[in-house]
This record gives sequence, structure tokens and C-alpha cells, in this order.
Amino acid sequence: MLFNPSNFVATLLIPGCALAVTTLNASATLGHNFTLAALNTTFSNANSTGAPLVLGSAGSVDGESFHLSSTYYSYPFDDYPALSLVNGNLRAFDREGNWHTNASAPFMGYEALSWATSTFYSDPASTAFSAINIPASIYPILAVNGVYNLWYLCPSDMRLGQDSVYYNTTSIASSKAYPADINCYSVTLNMVPVSMSPMS
Ligand SMILES: *[C@@H]1O[C@H](CO)[C@@H](O)[C@H](O)[C@H]1NC(C)=O
Ligand SMILES: *[C@@H]1O[C@H](CO)[C@@H](O)[C@H](O)[C@H]1NC(C)=O
Ligand SMILES: *[C@@H]1O[C@H](CO)[C@@H](O)[C@H](O)[C@H]1NC(C)=O
Ligand SMILES: *[C@@H]1O[C@H](CO)[C@@H](O)[C@H](O)[C@H]1NC(C)=O
Ligand SMILES: *[C@@H]1O[C@H](CO)[C@@H](O)[C@H](O)[C@H]1NC(C)=O
Ligand SMILES: *[C@@H]1O[C@H](CO)[C@@H](O)[C@H](O)[C@H]1NC(C)=O
Repeated sequence: MLFNPSNFVATLLIPGCALAVTTLNASATLGHNFTLAALNTTFSNANSTGAPLVLGSAGSVDGESFHLSSTYYSYPFDDYPALSLVNGNLRAFDREGNWHTNASAPFMGYEALSWATSTFYSDPASTAFSAINIPASIYPILAVNGVYNLWYLCPSDMRLGQDSVYYNTTSIASSKAYPADINCYSVTLNMVPVSMSPMS
């Protein structure tokens, strides 16, 4: 079954003045592979790298499987240990180094950091991703359409119970299809060079 993020209600946490305008240095391509790690922007963090994220499971159909970026803590399998950013495409490589996985930009109705893997189908990858350098971060951080401060980590009440990355939770909060009280919190997504990744 396909994970449906509209199935729950989120409690909103607005990141405090995260929109302070500085000159942003965005790149559509990063010269090295990386993994993602989620850093709290409203709560304190255990360290400056953040909680490691992996491609969690989000169902499949014949010939294609789907994933959501989820915390390794909630989904302790790291089948895609290297990501890359090339011309705005966010790509994932499996353990053998194969590239059959692209990320989709969040869109209205599915505002998540979602991925699809297929050796059968070919969908043009999103070109909306970028890496942004902000003075407050030692790592480049992931943005979509230049926006880096609308990512949230949301616990799930679904069967697999993954804590996954969503975007712009106002749209999740406005979908009251599921009577759960889900607490999302604002995060930034660090792009941690693979050589420095705790899981490499
Ligand atoms: C922009 O970021 C790149 C790395 O992503 C770095 O090499 C470059 O020096 C930065 N430019 C400025 C003006 O900060
Ligand atoms: C940083 O803290 C997170 C918990 O938020 C932990 O999962 C991760 O392993 C820590 N990373 C390092 C490099 O200590
Ligand atoms: C963010 O902070 C909350 C509350 O302290 C904590 O439960 C959560 O594990 C933290 N998440 C990360 C990614 O560090
Ligand atoms: C990222 O890793 C893949 C798989 O190992 C490799 O083919 C690719 O060249 C790497 N990309 C960069 C920019 O290092
Ligand atoms: C990933 O994106 C590239 C570039 O758009 C595309 O050629 C490739 O077929 C995509 N892969 C999948 C599995 O959709
Ligand atoms: C966030 O979601 C709200 C409500 O659906 C929408 O009006 C707004 O345009 C979205 N913002 C972005 C940056 O996508």
C-alpha cells in the first residue's frame, strides 16, 4: 500500500524567524556524495550533524518501489548509502553503486521527500533541488525551489512507524482525514559528505 501523508493531522511548529535574509549560495550540483541528516531548528540537538536519514519504505507496485526519507532510528536499514545532487536531481545509489532511484520534489497533495526506484520505468527526475550554504551550518543544506526552511520531521502512526521528512506541514495540517495528533517539528537537512557519514 502506498503511504498516504494526507492520512494524518499535524500540529504545526513555525520555525522562529528562520527567514532572516542573507545572501544564499545555492548550487544545483555537489561535487561529492552525501547522506542526509535532520537537525532540529526549534529544539536542542545532540550534535551539529543531526539524526541520520535513510530511504524508508513507502510501498511498491509492480516494477517500482517507493520511499520516504526517514530517520535511521525509526527505519534501521540503509539500502541507499550514497546520495548525489546533479543539475538539481537528487539521486540515490544502492549498495552496489547502481543508480535507479530519484527523489521527487514535494508537491501539493504529497508534500514529502519521496523517492522512486525502478529498473523498469523511467521518470524524468525533478530538477528543483539545490544545496544551500548558510553561515549557521557547517554543511550545505537541502533546498527545494530554493526553500530550505519548510522541512519537518513527523512521526507516523502508520504500521511501519517511520519518522519521515515532510515539507510545508500547513498543507498536512489542513488535511484532517486522519484523527491523529501528530507532532511535527521543523528541521534543516544537512548534506553530510559520505566520508563523514556515521553509516558509511
Ligand atoms: C558557494 O558554495 C560553494 C560550495 O558549494 C563554494 O565552493 C563557494 O566558495 C561558495 N561561494 C561563496 C561566495 O560563498
Ligand atoms: C547526532 O545525534 C543524532 C541524534 O539526534 C544521532 O542519531 C547521531 O548518531 C549523532 N551523530 C553523531 C555524528 O554523533
Ligand atoms: C528534536 O528535538 C526533539 C525534542 O527534544 C527530540 O525528541 C527529537 O529526537 C529531536 N530530533 C532530532 C532530529 O534531533
Ligand atoms: C556517488 O556514488 C556513486 C556510487 O558509488 C558513484 O557512481 C558516483 O560517481 C558518486 N558521485 C560523486 C559525485 O562522487
Ligand atoms: C532518474 O532521472 C534520470 C534523469 O531525469 C532519468 O534518466 C532516469 O530514468 C530516472 N530514473 C528512474 C528510475 O526514473
Ligand atoms: C504551503 O502550503 C500552503 C497551504 O496548502 C500553501 O498555501 C503554500 O503556498 C505552501 N507554500 C509553499 C512554499 O509551498
